[in-house]
Amino acid sequence: MYTIAIYNNKGGVGKSTLTVFMADFLASLAVRGRPMRVVVLDLDAQGSCAASLLGSARLLQARSTGQTLGPLARDLDQGRPLNLEPYLFSRPKGAVKGRATPVSEVGVMISDKNGAFAFEANPLHRLTTLRDRLKPLLAQSFDLALLDLPGNIDPRHLLAVNGLIMSDSVISPVEVSRFSIDAMPDTVEMIRYAREQGDGHRPAFLGMLLNRTDKRGQQYQRNLPWIHAMAERLQIPVFEQVLPNAQALASATDEGLAAGGSLRERYGSYYPHVKAVVGEAFRRWHAMESDPNR
Ligand SMILES: Nc1ncnc2c1ncn2[C@@H]1O[C@H](COP(=O)(O)OP(=O)(O)OP(=O)(O)O)[C@@H](O)[C@H]1O
Ligand SMILES: [Mg+2]
Repeated sequence: MYTIAIYNNKGGVGKSTLTVFMADFLASLAVRGRPMRVVVLDLDAQGSCAASLLGSARLLQARSTGQTLGPLARDLDQGRPLNLEPYLFSRPKGAVKGRATPVSEVGVMISDKNGAFAFEANPLHRLTTLRDRLKPLLAQSFDLALLDLPGNIDPRHLLAVNGLIMSDSVISPVEVSRFSIDAMPDTVEMIRYAREQGDGHRPAFLGMLLNRTDKRGQQYQRNLPWIHAMAERLQIPVFEQVLPNAQALASATDEGLAAGGSLRERYGSYYPHVKAVVGEAFRRWHAMESDPNR
């Protein structure tokens, strides 16, 4: 199972949105003759990604019964033999007419503040619990895990750091604004920290993805050279594909759409944009996996 974290330490840049886009499109791909099995771990207590995939009623219910990643990680730390079933939810496949591609089934795991705190307060907590204990269990049922990380984290956020250490690579959505670009060194710093606490070289940087982009706007023209200079300095690849700024894209992750439908219905005229971005992520991930020097 390959694991990708969607992370930028800056808030509100499109991490949760991109996580849902990637889950939707990658779960509709076939690999080795069967659909790719995708699980999303929503590590942000805000839960916007889980709400989008499951609806907020199911999110609230799972939280009220403690079926979240914090208590699960605590139990894993204590070496309990584990059945993931109570912690694993499912966004069902959409119903479609004719030959349209339905939104596919996606596994979802949820987090919440209290659960994360219970894990962090446990003196036995480890930074590698998710990598060493959860990842092998998930790998029995999934080909890909996508992790929606919160913004504004530091080494005290043990569950989020666990998520980074569990990840093979990171994609950072970035807005083409000075504020967003200036925050990149913090993001790189946290990724370095996760590498040091993990195996020394993972997660790798899959790339920075420009989100809410208006290619004809002044801001884009002015800031693009700056973004590329900074990416070179920090040695982060930049995606060739970008996501435009569009209300239709914000609505595609609206929880009102949690149930059913086809991919084209959900993404409307932006379907090709999102498909191209996710396609580039897929190619970069496979190039990285087959690189003997990585
Ligand atoms: N390409 C886009 N076009 C228009 N709106 C977008 C786009 N991408 C994201 N948004 C909107 O921007 C807001 C922030 O996006 P999102 O919640 O995905 O960011 P985030 O990085 O996950 O935020 P946080 O750090 O709070 O978790 C949301 O309202 C979302 O719908
Ligand atoms: Mg988010």
